[in-house]
Amino acid sequence: MTLTREQAMEFAEDKPSNPSDNETFGSISQRRYSRRGVLKGALMTGTALAIAGLSRPGQASMDASFAFDEISHGVDETHHVAPGYDADILLRWGDALFPDSPAFDPANQTEASQLRQFGYNNDFIGMIPVSDDRAVLCVNHEYTNEELMFPGLGDQEKKDFADMTEALVKVEMAAHGGTVVEVTRDANGKWKADTNGKMNRRITASTPMRLSGPAAGHARVQTKADPNGTTVLGTINNCAGGITPWGTYLMAEENFNGYFWGKDALDAHPEAAALKRYGAPGQWYAWGKFDTRFDITKEPNEVNRFGWVVEVDVMDPTSTPVKRTALGRFKHEGAETIVNKDGRLVVYMGDDQRFDYLYKFVTKGTVNMQDHAANKDLLDEGTLYVAKFDDQGGVTWMPLIHGQGPLTAENGFKDQGDVLISTRLAADALGATKMDRPEDVQANPKTGHVYVMLTNNSKRKADQVDGPNPRAENSFGQIVELTPPDMDHAATMAKWSLLVVCGDPAKPDVNAQWNSQTTENGWFASPDNCTVDPDGRLWISTDQGSAWAKSGTADGIWALETEGALRGTGKMFFRVPIGAEMCGPCFSEDGATLFVAVQHPASDGVKNYTGFERESTFEDPATRWPDFKDGMPPRPSVVMITKQGGGKIGV
Ligand code: FEO
Ligand code: CA
Ligand code: CA
Repeated sequence: MTLTREQAMEFAEDKPSNPSDNETFGSISQRRYSRRGVLKGALMTGTALAIAGLSRPGQASMDASFAFDEISHGVDETHHVAPGYDADILLRWGDALFPDSPAFDPANQTEASQLRQFGYNNDFIGMIPVSDDRAVLCVNHEYTNEELMFPGLGDQEKKDFADMTEALVKVEMAAHGGTVVEVTRDANGKWKADTNGKMNRRITASTPMRLSGPAAGHARVQTKADPNGTTVLGTINNCAGGITPWGTYLMAEENFNGYFWGKDALDAHPEAAALKRYGAPGQWYAWGKFDTRFDITKEPNEVNRFGWVVEVDVMDPTSTPVKRTALGRFKHEGAETIVNKDGRLVVYMGDDQRFDYLYKFVTKGTVNMQDHAANKDLLDEGTLYVAKFDDQGGVTWMPLIHGQGPLTAENGFKDQGDVLISTRLAADALGATKMDRPEDVQANPKTGHVYVMLTNNSKRKADQVDGPNPRAENSFGQIVELTPPDMDHAATMAKWSLLVVCGDPAKPDVNAQWNSQTTENGWFASPDNCTVDPDGRLWISTDQGSAWAKSGTADGIWALETEGALRGTGKMFFRVPIGAEMCGPCFSEDGATLFVAVQHPASDGVKNYTGFERESTFEDPATRWPDFKDGMPPRPSVVMITKQGGGKIGV
């Protein structure tokens, strides 16, 4: 099957690569609810019964947390925001980051120009305040679409990258990674990039990085170019991420497998089984054609140097980013942190693939908020845990520690480096619970609850279905809430419950679960990222891929009630243009700006959109971009949302 870039990414995230016979969350929840009989009716009949099941007892307030007028579901060529708000573009692919950045010229792209410009496909957004009106903005550039980026080129995967040149590959590598850029706020509350900012830097697929933690120097990460196994070039497929309490930027490496070549020689690779568990090599890009480190037949260990969480000290623009191997190697969606009540840092992480797992990392040491430099190696020591959901509404966090349980040399784990490089295999051995594509995982510091975005899983079978995973062929996803005991995020136990089961509550066959106060525009599908605002309220962004045609609405931002009688009520706040996904929701420290990332506009499924029937905006170079006012294609963009007249968003 030949796939477009979006389809390939979606397919890769969707495609189950977990052959273990561990239980699915669905089968466990079936037992839970079969025994209790609590939600069984709700699962069959949807909304009405779900309210009783989803509301917290003893919290009867009907006061809405969010004050804004909801926008409508729909699909068109532009973005929409709630009335009374402005949505302005802050940064687009190709925008200048430095005084000497060349003007964006999509017809004449070079590696040198891209290295001085904002990168492609913005995803995670993080903000580190410097003062009230100055901050450092950190933005991931997840991946590239050659058919959208390079006018007239078309989809190269379909033709074995026949027209891809080394020069174009170098542009792609430079468009990956991240941007660190200082931003300032004017008297009207609008932010702009300061191209003179001292912290401004681009991080790319070629930036030298240090490997640290238990897998650094391991034989399985040594290569010809780096016999010590300590220095890696670049970071790729940085999806979501996090900002630590000491002001560093965490970039999560997600679908790293897609960049490596050598599919046909996979069985001859010494680590073939481990590579298969990670879906490597995917061969979605031309990189292996020109750079031997992306070919597993030429450099068998390079692939083990990706799939980590990267920490960047943004306050030192000359600092070397560090791949923190203690946090495990998988398709990291994000890396959101919370300081536990005992002072240790807890990092919550999803492994985004069908039937893959939910993780957390707990540091050994405690966070020093007085001296940020004291936290410099905090993420190198600690315990990585994987979640097992039981049938009593509980979660057990199982440690991935060499020598404990099955994680021994007899089972292929010779040391902790092996456990971490093959995190998925170690979690399989422990019997972790198979989930519906865990994406962003966010703790709410005000309430202690943790929200897990489970985006969809069309491969879950009917006999694996019930309770919190209530659907076979789950196209719409759900949000699970974790409650650690006594707000102790380091505890090895927690409780779980459903917040919402996504999709259209008006369609009985969808079996969605929302609070009945949710309007026809308030429900959403495929939750992907989320954020908690300064008042402790939850905001969700969605990525349906081309399934917007099924839901009838483009992706966007929804506010979601989590407490009281309105728990489980969604409300639509922002909508992206056709073909885009919504990423990166991030609030300024004062809650007056919501930054969002519009990724790959004019891409997902646009050829099915009446009046726009083409696979790519760039399909015909002779008539390119006629629909857009400035003669430019729609570009991945960071958009800032502010309230007209000022004030907190949604208040
Ligand atoms: Fe890059 Fe899981 O989304
Ligand atoms: Ca994502
Ligand atoms: Ca988040």
